[in-house]
Amino acid sequence: MSSPNLSRRSFVAAGVTAAASASLIGADPPKKVKVGVIGCGSVSTQYLPHLMKCPFAEVVSACDIKPERAKRLAEKYKVPNQYPNIGDMLAGAAFDLLVNLTDMQEHEKLNKQAIEAGKHVWSEKPLANTLAAGQGLLRLATEKKVRLWGAPCVVVSPQFRYMAEAINAGKLGRVAAAHADYGHEGPNWSAFFYEKGGGSLPDLAVYQLTTLTGLLGPAKSVSAMTSVVTPTRKVGDKGDIKVVAEDNAMVLMDHGNGVISHVQSGFNYFNPHGHDGKNEQRHTLSVVGSTGYLGMVGYDWMPLGVEIATHKQPKLKRESTEKGDYVWQMGASLAAECLATGKDFLVSPEHALHVLEVIQATRESQDTGKRVTLTSTFKRPIG
Ligand SMILES: NC(=O)c1ccc[n+]([C@@H]2O[C@H](COP(=O)([O-])OP(=O)(O)OC[C@H]3O[C@@H](n4cnc5c(N)ncnc54)[C@H](O)[C@@H]3O)[C@@H](O)[C@H]2O)c1
Repeated sequence: MSSPNLSRRSFVAAGVTAAASASLIGADPPKKVKVGVIGCGSVSTQYLPHLMKCPFAEVVSACDIKPERAKRLAEKYKVPNQYPNIGDMLAGAAFDLLVNLTDMQEHEKLNKQAIEAGKHVWSEKPLANTLAAGQGLLRLATEKKVRLWGAPCVVVSPQFRYMAEAINAGKLGRVAAAHADYGHEGPNWSAFFYEKGGGSLPDLAVYQLTTLTGLLGPAKSVSAMTSVVTPTRKVGDKGDIKVVAEDNAMVLMDHGNGVISHVQSGFNYFNPHGHDGKNEQRHTLSVVGSTGYLGMVGYDWMPLGVEIATHKQPKLKRESTEKGDYVWQMGASLAAECLATGKDFLVSPEHALHVLEVIQATRESQDTGKRVTLTSTFKRPIG
């Protein structure tokens, strides 16, 4: 393994599991986890400032198949090593945690290479292109005694906690239904968002699918419709392209026990706030039960508060407006902290894989016109 602080041999010698290993290595915190970032495009400009301030992370390498991007990022953030492909990065300067910020369709392959080389992985969504491949990655990670996590980290926000605790405390009575939506006019910089394996589901709905399954529990089955509204687009990297992946999706989830939720996403949604959520005042996500209602103000990835109404207090009241230190781009820093100190992390690979199965089932439901039964499950983060 890579850095002396985090010798993998010592985990193996101690016979610890991947899950328990983090507490061992945190014996003398804070230790710095050496980070290699792959994919130096748009989202890297959000991740890097957070990672640079994280006391548990030291970014040692930047990699991109467009080498000028790795160079630019390395210069801006004083990252000492830069590489044009993952093979060179894995063979180069030692590191512990791969932060994968590449095209959605590339994650599976790169995550696998990194795990095989004994690296922990924080991956942007999705972890893999299919549930089966994602489950294979998790098995491999367990064998290799490394950790694997996937974005998003919405379950870490104080507003997610507030909603989960309100539901758990029975404030909504018998929970019945939930709704969430997220859309804008679509990214215009890269084609992969519109190619096979892309779409608004893994790019946008993934947030609300994570929040609603996190609050209401794993889905048992999915019924869905998707469509392509805009068949051609112009994008920065490839010019005029054909849109293959859905750009419009409606997903119905059955959580069991009578609870049904709905998530919609799309790349053809008028949205005056564009990619910036900080001025969104609507309830983009809501949960209703027999005695109460919860509405998240703004998006779950940038929540501004939660409004609650109940039988006892029927007028909507805004609560949980404190942001704390939560930001959506903090997942890799939290992964580094978890590795360095053993601190609990509410984000789990099983949850990310369940959401991946919901997305896969959505595509299958559209193709077959049928309701699709799900097989994966996970433990609710705040149960
Ligand atoms: N842009 C955002 O605001 C945003 C926000 C949240 C999540 N995300 C997610 O982040 C990921 C990246 O999105 P983006 O908008 O930064 O895309 P982008 O196109 O701006 O950047 C992706 C980068 O990855 C590089 N790359 C692709 N394949 C590679 C490989 N095999 N090896 C090394 N580098 C490779 C590309 O050259 C490119 O520079 C996606 O999963 C996306 O869903 C993006």
